[in-house]
Amino acid sequence: MQILPVRLEMVLEQVRKACKDSSSGRIIDVGSDHGYLAVRCLEEELADYVICTDIHKAPAQRSANALIEAGFEEHADVYVTDGLKEVPLKAGDIVVIAGMGGLNIIDIISRALKDNGYGVMENVTFILQPQKSNDIVRNYLSKTGFVFEDESICYDRDIFYNCMRVVFRGISTTMTDEEACYGPVLLKRYKEGDKEVVEYFGHLNSLFEIRQRSNPVIRSALEQRKKNEG
Ligand SMILES: C[S@@+](CC[C@H](N)C(=O)[O-])C[C@H]1O[C@@H](n2cnc3c(N)ncnc32)[C@H](O)[C@@H]1O
Repeated sequence: MQILPVRLEMVLEQVRKACKDSSSGRIIDVGSDHGYLAVRCLEEELADYVICTDIHKAPAQRSANALIEAGFEEHADVYVTDGLKEVPLKAGDIVVIAGMGGLNIIDIISRALKDNGYGVMENVTFILQPQKSNDIVRNYLSKTGFVFEDESICYDRDIFYNCMRVVFRGISTTMTDEEACYGPVLLKRYKEGDKEVVEYFGHLNSLFEIRQRSNPVIRSALEQRKKNEG
């Protein structure tokens, strides 16, 4: 089996959960780089077919090589393209965008919304693992009409990472600053006493204490959190 770092194991676990509702049998890894996730998805038979895209030729080639070495060339396509540009989505697809900045993720999703009809988008699951700008990503998703199915966290080589699973429903909602900065699903898990999330929020609180000086959204989120904590 292809070994994955803890961060990608977390992403894979969200793919496993999404597969229960997937009908197309395709997993699309945007910004696939080394292609490890795609290989592992095929090894676990989570999909019949994977599509890898990468904006740069060298990482796309790495993905193609990994898939060929694992014997999956008949079950995969690799494109050098920006986001999902060359890939029309199908109902039941699972799209993974991991290890990228939040603004880049937003850009890729907004173009996918324009290029694919709402009917298709409502039947695609997005698994997102932003490296930064979580609050901006969550605000964008709720305003645009996505709903949060799940969010997970992990601690990998001294860094916390999070991973959101969302689906498009077309109904715009507004998040509080607390929800945007801490995550609606994670806030729920925190209230239920989830130890992993309690530890993560401790880390976020220390981080936000520093960032709040220059960021009014974080300042407001921190105030709301303290108030709700009582
Ligand atoms: C840090 S790597 C993450 C690789 C892998 N997804 C992971 O999580 O380990 C980011 C990859 O995304 C690619 N990338 C960045 N922007 C992209 C875009 N707009 N469309 C496709 N690929 C992109 C980069 O070339 C790079 O290979």
